[in-house]
Formats: sequence, structure tokens, C-alpha cells
Amino acid sequence: MKICCIGAGYVGGPTMAMIAKKCPDIEVTVVDINPERIAAWQTDELPIYEPGLLEVVQAARGRNLFFSTDVDQGIRDADIIFVSVNTPTKTFGHGAGCASDLQYWELCARRIKEVSTSDKIIVEKSTLPVRTAEAMERVLHSGDTSLRFEVLSNPEFLAEGTAVSDLENPDRVLVGGHETPAGQKALQALVDIYARWVPRERILTTNVWSSELSKLTANAFLAQRISSINAISALCEVTGADVSDVAHVIGTDERIGSKFLRASIGFGGSCFKKDILNLVYLCETYGLHEPAAYWRQVVELNEYQETRFVKSMLRAMFNTIANKRVAVFGFAFKADTSDTRESPSIRVCKELLNERGRVVVSDPKALVNARAELAAVEGDVEFEADPYKAAEGAHAIAVMTEWKEYKELDFQRIYDSMVKPAFIFDGRNILDHTALFEMGFEVYSIGREAKTHLK
Ligand code: NAD
Ligand code: UGA
Repeated sequence: MKICCIGAGYVGGPTMAMIAKKCPDIEVTVVDINPERIAAWQTDELPIYEPGLLEVVQAARGRNLFFSTDVDQGIRDADIIFVSVNTPTKTFGHGAGCASDLQYWELCARRIKEVSTSDKIIVEKSTLPVRTAEAMERVLHSGDTSLRFEVLSNPEFLAEGTAVSDLENPDRVLVGGHETPAGQKALQALVDIYARWVPRERILTTNVWSSELSKLTANAFLAQRISSINAISALCEVTGADVSDVAHVIGTDERIGSKFLRASIGFGGSCFKKDILNLVYLCETYGLHEPAAYWRQVVELNEYQETRFVKSMLRAMFNTIANKRVAVFGFAFKADTSDTRESPSIRVCKELLNERGRVVVSDPKALVNARAELAAVEGDVEFEADPYKAAEGAHAIAVMTEWKEYKELDFQRIYDSMVKPAFIFDGRNILDHTALFEMGFEVYSIGREAKTHLK
């Protein structure tokens, strides 16, 4: 059996590497139109940083895992084609800022139709609006063709930073297929691949539409939990309650559960915002205005949280940040990834620069992407991998990413090198606030009263 995956990104690369590792008899080729990305997958400097990924790639690369820019050849040779291209939010035309931009997906469908010489199973790996498979089938079977393409939905649930363990030991794998004999045969073929290493009871099967919608819903529910606890964090700051205590207390209720209740500067990443907006657009399309407004609020609360953070910095620093050096610790949208897409750091840095602050961005893995994100932004911005150097002479530190490196820093040394009063704004609540306060820092966090010497 031969598999081709179109799209060698954060999803296509790791998922295919795992399939190739677990199924040595299946030839897996990952193709992409981006030659730099493909070249990087062929080296040990992979195009994305993901703990443990290099070992998985090395286990199969050159044996049954290949990376190529020859998209047509990959399509032609394959029995199963995964499509894992980007599906960003539309920035133009009808539905701009909300709907999913499906041009990359459709280009793939047209290419598959154009160059295929045999029947194939097409797997939607990208996150797509519900009923996209229908449009795909129309494109694939349009005109004069005797070939049959069976479209399955197989959304991916991996999270960045834990992609390898998520793929190796997933909570569940979801496969949606049509309730026809051909649909069920295709579905079974894909289930059989995952069943090589995933317990059968964790492989869920549904119809195509439930599968497509489940992916959007899963992300919406996860993001909703973060917005919910962040909404409570604002109330904690003015009432003397501590959001960590509140999260712990509610999380011990089995019905609520303890995960995904970390109050923060806000959720980032390429998917939560885009997928919720996609859901909002779908609801609006079907005239469901109240459900649309309900989900939109999850995104709006997230934006409020980011803006609220900068306002709190400004207020604490005597209502002016102009010409003050601010060390931003972390630009990745979460720890253990180099990905900066939709990172809360972007908005925070832009607002600090808008206040004419002097911003020094530090991050252990994401500085290349950070430079690209801020390239078009005017203002005094530096990039410094060493957090000690970044903090030297700074008026304030803003912790944006929960990198474990930041918990292990010598904050006394940092305090000594900073301008006084030295402010620290912990957007992730990862530091020991009492110890920092005792060192002399003015400590501001999320969902807790500030600890300040300035009364
Ligand atoms: P990405 O931008 O990292 O990768 C997409 C790749 O597709 C790019 O390398 C691009 O060059 C390539 N591509 C685009 N059009 C192409 C074409 N016509 N032919 C060949 N290659 C083409 O995106 P990603 O983060 O891997 O996300 C892919 C999809 O998976 C999205 O729909 C996303 O919502 C979903 N998803 C992402 C994650 C995640 O953690 N990033 C998790 C689950 C699901
Ligand atoms: C998320 C989902 O967790 C995956 O299941 C899904 O496959 C993926 O989106 C996707 O579709 O792209 P990811 O965005 O990689 O994965 O990372 P998460 O761990 O979900 O974190 C998202 C954001 O929420 C990060 O900025 C993180 O710091 C923040 N977060 C997370 C919080 O602020 N608080 C929490 O309690 C948890």
C-alpha cells in the first residue's frame, strides 16, 4: 500500500512520520509545494520544533518515509491520499475574517482529479467546515471520469509540543465515512492502519458530517474552557480570590475535570480562533444567530484578556511605557513549540510598541518566527535569545510563554540588573510570586491580586 500526504506542515509531517514508523510495510510520501520545507524534512534540522519528532522521523526516513516536492507523482502512485494543507481564515471577500479559506484544499482536489490514473481514498486531515467532503466529491467526480474517489474525514487532534505522544497514544482517532458499501470499505481500510498501534476501542467511526463537525466542536469546547477561566481571572483580581484555587476547586468535580483550566494571557495557536470563527460562520450561514454569538464571545473574551494584560502593565508602570525597556519572555504560543501563529505575544508586543516601549523579545525556540511576525511592525524591537541579557536594564519583564526554562532562572541576578522599581508581569502564573516579591519585584499575575511595594 502507498500513502501520499499533501502538506508537510505541523500536522502532515508528524502524522505521516508516525504512520511510517508504525507500518514499515506501507510506503508514505509527504509532498509539499514549499521546497524549503521539504528540504528541511530531509535533514536533522526539521522545519518544526517538536520534542521527540526527530527520532520518529529518523526511524522511518529513507526506509518507507519520503519527502518530495513532486506532488503529481505522489498523487499518482498513492492508494490513499491525506490532504493536510492549511485552512486559514479568509481575509478577503464574503465571510472575510470568519469563514475558512478553502482555496488550498480545492486546489488539491483539482490536482488529484487532474493527475490520477486509478481509484483512490481521499482523507480530509485538515480541519474543515462541515460538509466540505460534499464539495470535494463534486470536484473529484466532475466532468468525464470513470475513476472513483471515496472521501473520508479523519481530523487530527494532536496538540503542538506533545504531538509525538498524542500520535503514539491518542485519546481517540476519529474516522468519518459515508454509510454506503464503498464508504464503509474505505473507512475500514483507514481504521486498519490506525489499529496497528491504537486500541480498536479508541478508534471512533461516524458519518462524514459528524466527523467534520466533531473536530470544530472539540476545539471550540477546549477554547471555551480557557475563556471561561480567564473571565473568572478578571473577577479574581478585583476580589482577592485566587484563580488557581478556584480552578483547583472546580476541577475536582469529576463532571468538570481539572484539565485546561489554566488561566493565562489567552489562547494562541493557529487553530482555536480560526476554528471557532469557522463555527460562527457556519451557524450564521444556517441562520443560527444566537449559537453564532455564543461562540464568538469565546474569541472576544480572549482578545479582552490580551488587551487587559497590556492595560494592567500600563497602569502599574505609572501610565507610561514610552522609552521603557520591556523584556518579553516567550514568543511561542505555548511551551515546547517554535510556532508563533496567533501567539498572544504578538498583540502584547504590538501594543507595547504602540506605547513607544523598547521591546526585547526572548524565546528559546521561536526567535526566527518572532522576527517574521514583527517584521512589518514599527518601533524599537530587539531579539535576544539569552533572557538574562534581555532583562538587563529593563523596567519590566512580561512572561508570555510557560517555558520551563523561565521557572529555573536566577531571578535575584535578573532583579539586580534591572531598573527599579522592577516590574514582573506573569502572563502564565508560572513563577514563585511570593519569592519574587520578597526579592523586591513588583509582581503582577493573572487572576491574583498584585504583590506590590508601591502603596
Ligand atoms: P501548515 O501551514 O503548517 O502546513 C500546511 C502545508 O500545506 C504547508 O507546508 C503548505 O506549503 C502546504 N500546501 C498548501 N497548499 C498546498 C498544495 N496545493 N499542494 C501541496 N502543498 C500545499 O498547517 P498545519 O498546522 O499543518 O495545519 C494543517 C491543517 O491541520 C489545518 O487545517 C489545521 O487546522 C489542521 N490542524 C492543525 C493542528 C496543529 O497543531 N497545527 C492540529 C490539528 C489540526
Ligand atoms: C489545540 C488542541 O489542544 C488540539 O487537540 C487540536 O488538535 C489543535 O488545537 C488544533 O486543532 O490545532 P494546540 O493549539 O497545539 O492544540 O495547543 P493547546 O495545548 O490546546 O494550547 C492552545 C493555547 O491555549 C495555548 O496558547 C495554550 O497556552 C493555551 N492554554 C491551554 C491556556 O491558556 N490554558 C490552558 O489551560 C490550556
